[in-house]
Amino acid sequence: MIQHRILFICLGNICRSPMAEGVFRHVVDSRGDADRFLIDSAGVGGWHVGDPPDTRARAAARGRGIDISAQRARRIVGDDFERFDAIIAMDDDNLATLLRLAPEQHRSKVRLFLEFAPDVGRRDVPDPYYGGADGFEHVLDLIEAASGGLYTALVENETR
Ligand code: 4NP
Repeated sequence: MIQHRILFICLGNICRSPMAEGVFRHVVDSRGDADRFLIDSAGVGGWHVGDPPDTRARAAARGRGIDISAQRARRIVGDDFERFDAIIAMDDDNLATLLRLAPEQHRSKVRLFLEFAPDVGRRDVPDPYYGGADGFEHVLDLIEAASGGLYTALVENETR
């Protein structure tokens, strides 16, 4: 039975949030927990709708054993605030947009991803789009840290 519905959000849905979706799914799968999670990603912007993840994002993820090539970009829709339990923003810009779009009763679902990685010492997963391959590796490091933290937070909060 699905108990956790998680939506990762960035600007274009071709770099950061597809990598977050892939890494978080990998964490959940490796714990044998896939049946209890619904995991997806979307962008606040619509420029890349229908596109696969950026070539550099696919390559960086593949380097860590994660295949994100089947993903296709989509833009967030109003229904996402109903369907998902947690809507996870990559940076403060995404967060502000989501808080503006979210119906009041669902605003508490909107969170900043790096809240779940307090040890990395920053708030934002930086946009790697205009940089080089090393930016994507740094983004993946941040995403891996926050994915582990998010999984732990969700599972520890379950009522047993
Ligand atoms: P993302 O990166 O938000 O991590 O997917 C971006 C991708 C595309 C654009 C901006 C950011 N863009 O402006 O096209």
